[in-house]
Amino acid sequence: MNTTTSSPAITETSTFAVDIEEGLSNYPKQLSSKYFYDAAGDQLFQDIMAMPEYYLTNAEYDIFTRQKAAILEAFGDSTFELIELGAGDGTKTKILLEYFLQQEADFTYRPIDISGNVLEQLAADCAQQFPKLKVDAVKGDYTKALSLIKEEDNHRRKVVLFLGGNIGNFPLPSAKTFIKELASCLSPGDLLLTGFDLKKDPKVVQLAYDDPAGITAAFNLNLLARINRELGGEFDLDKFMHWETYNPLNGEARSYIVSKEDQLVQIEQLQLSVHFAAWEAIAVEVSAKYSERDITELAEETGFVVNHNFVDQKAYFVDSLWELKQQI
Ligand code: AVI
Repeated sequence: MNTTTSSPAITETSTFAVDIEEGLSNYPKQLSSKYFYDAAGDQLFQDIMAMPEYYLTNAEYDIFTRQKAAILEAFGDSTFELIELGAGDGTKTKILLEYFLQQEADFTYRPIDISGNVLEQLAADCAQQFPKLKVDAVKGDYTKALSLIKEEDNHRRKVVLFLGGNIGNFPLPSAKTFIKELASCLSPGDLLLTGFDLKKDPKVVQLAYDDPAGITAAFNLNLLARINRELGGEFDLDKFMHWETYNPLNGEARSYIVSKEDQLVQIEQLQLSVHFAAWEAIAVEVSAKYSERDITELAEETGFVVNHNFVDQKAYFVDSLWELKQQI
C-alpha cells in the first residue's frame, strides 16, 4: 500500500481539537461533518444507509446493477486505471468490479481512503472475492494521493470514481475548488464518474435527513458525544436537538444542532467553556442536491464535459460521467 502521510492519527486528532475549538468559538457556530465519522459515527452511517427513507444508497445500487454494461461502454476503452476516492467498504463498487472482470477489462483498482483500516479490509475482501483483480490501495488525502498517481504517469487513461453523493457534502463553491484540484492531477481525456443526488420532491429529501426513528439525529448528535469522548467535553445530549432544512431553490439540505436552553459547556482538554444561548444553533452539514443543469454547469466551470448521465429508475440520483477537456 502506498502511504502519503506518516502519522495520520496524530494529525487527525490535533486537527480535530483545533477545528472544534475554532468552530465553537465562532458566531454563528460551525463544525465540519467530516468529524461525524469515528467508530460510532461509521456504525450510525451504516444504519442510515439501511433506512428506507435514505434513498441514495438504493438509487446508486439500481444504477450500477442495471447500467453496468452501459457504464463500461461509455469508458470507451477497456484499459484504464480505476481510482476511487473515499472507497469505504466498496459495496456498490464491487458490482462494477465484478462486471469489468467478467468482461476482461484491463484495469487496476486503486482505492484511496484516509483510513488505513478501511483500505486493508477492502483489499482483503477484494482478494477473497476477486482473486484476479489487481488492487493497489493508496492511503491518504485525496489530492495528495492523486498527485502521487499522476507522478507515475504510466499513460493509462484514468477513470476516477467519486460515488455516493459525497460531492454534496461540499458547499457549491468548495465543490468547484475541489473538482479543479482533482482536475489538476488528471490529463485531458481522463474520466470522472461522480454521484449527484438530484433535486426532487422536498418532502422526500426532508425525510431522508430527518427520519422518524431518529437515526440521523443520533448520527449528528454523535459529534457532541465524540467531543465528550475525545476532548473531555461535558455536553448533555438531551439538551440539544437535531434540526434539518431543505431549500429547493439552491438544493441545500442543511443540518444543525440546536441548544434547547441557555447553557455553558466545558471542554476540558481545550480549556474552553462554550456558551450557548437558548435556541442557538451549530451548523454541521450541507448535503447539496443538483439538477442536471447544475451538473452541466459545474462540469463546464471546472474544465470537463458531461459524456453521459446514468440515472436510476425513480430519477432520484445520477452517476455523471465527465471527460476532462482542459485544466482551468
Ligand atoms: C456521506 N454523505 C453523502 C451523506 C449525505 O447524504 O450527505 C451523509 C449523511 N448525513 C445525513 N445522512 C447521511
